[in-house]
Amino acid sequence: MENKKKKIGVLTSGGDAPGMNAAIRAVVRSALARGMEVVGVRHGYNGLIDGDIFDMNLRSVSEILHRGGTILYTARCKEFRTREGVLKAKDTCQKLGIDGLVVIGGDGSFRGARDLSLEGIPCVGLPGTIDNDISCSDYCIGFDTALNTAVEAVDRLRDTSQSHDRCNVVEIMGNGAGHLSLDCGIACGASAIWVNEVDFDVDVSIVQRILDTGKTGKHHFIVIVGEGITDVHSLARYIEERTGVESRATVLGHIQRGGSPTAKDRIMATQLGYHAVELLEQGIGNRVVVIRENHVVDFDILEALQMKKGIDRKLYEIARSINI
Ligand code: F6P
Repeated sequence: MENKKKKIGVLTSGGDAPGMNAAIRAVVRSALARGMEVVGVRHGYNGLIDGDIFDMNLRSVSEILHRGGTILYTARCKEFRTREGVLKAKDTCQKLGIDGLVVIGGDGSFRGARDLSLEGIPCVGLPGTIDNDISCSDYCIGFDTALNTAVEAVDRLRDTSQSHDRCNVVEIMGNGAGHLSLDCGIACGASAIWVNEVDFDVDVSIVQRILDTGKTGKHHFIVIVGEGITDVHSLARYIEERTGVESRATVLGHIQRGGSPTAKDRIMATQLGYHAVELLEQGIGNRVVVIRENHVVDFDILEALQMKKGIDRKLYEIARSINI
């Protein structure tokens, strides 16, 4: 009897990130090049539970390399956090003859990939989140694009900040992680960067700093605040009251998640997608493929989820000493 062709699926899960399409493209084309069949799963794990799945070919992924978002749609699937949900997904995979799955998303998505792997469907996770908070990976798909979007936006705010001698407080996404805020703060020369990972006293690190640097002739200030830390509008009012510097607040929000991926995101996504298919071809699952010290490597998902990743403290200190 002729050997059945291996069939793999690909889905995106969690918040979308620019470069996810590049990863999908890499997965589809690498798999086809190895003689495998590929299906796309829509709306994350929901599609696996509901059977919202379609065949993909070379042309299914044409003209998507440069596009933001995800052609597969994405979602955060509550049902998949239950064993029943995982078993439904397993059932779909078995019915459709899906031998393995590539899951592009954040750590919540990886938990699902681990659960399904443990049920006998090999899954490989790829880090895709603008938060850059996957501990085992130096880099996540989408981060570079989101960073450049945020930097461009803050540069624009700086123009008006300078013209009015104001303080502009900017909230940056990150879901509790400070990577995007810190890198944006460095790239924009922010007077203060407030992230969860450091002890922060508003009166010292913002108010006093504005008063002190004001004496050296500085009259406009950018303050970066990680999402979820405080209400930036109230903070702007507080800064104005305490310093006398007119202040405004901006929440950059989902604008950071859209747009055409940078070259870096496209290249990383392509490398990661290719490696994921190499693993699945060998029937290897329960792995995440990541970038570490400029190399593409893979880890056991559980091991990956247990790793810790802090912000770059040295970078934070550099910002504090020179953004004055
Ligand atoms: O994880 C990516 C992210 O954009 C976070 O930075 C943010 O906290 C969250 O997703 C927002 O999620 P939603 O799109 O569901 O509002």
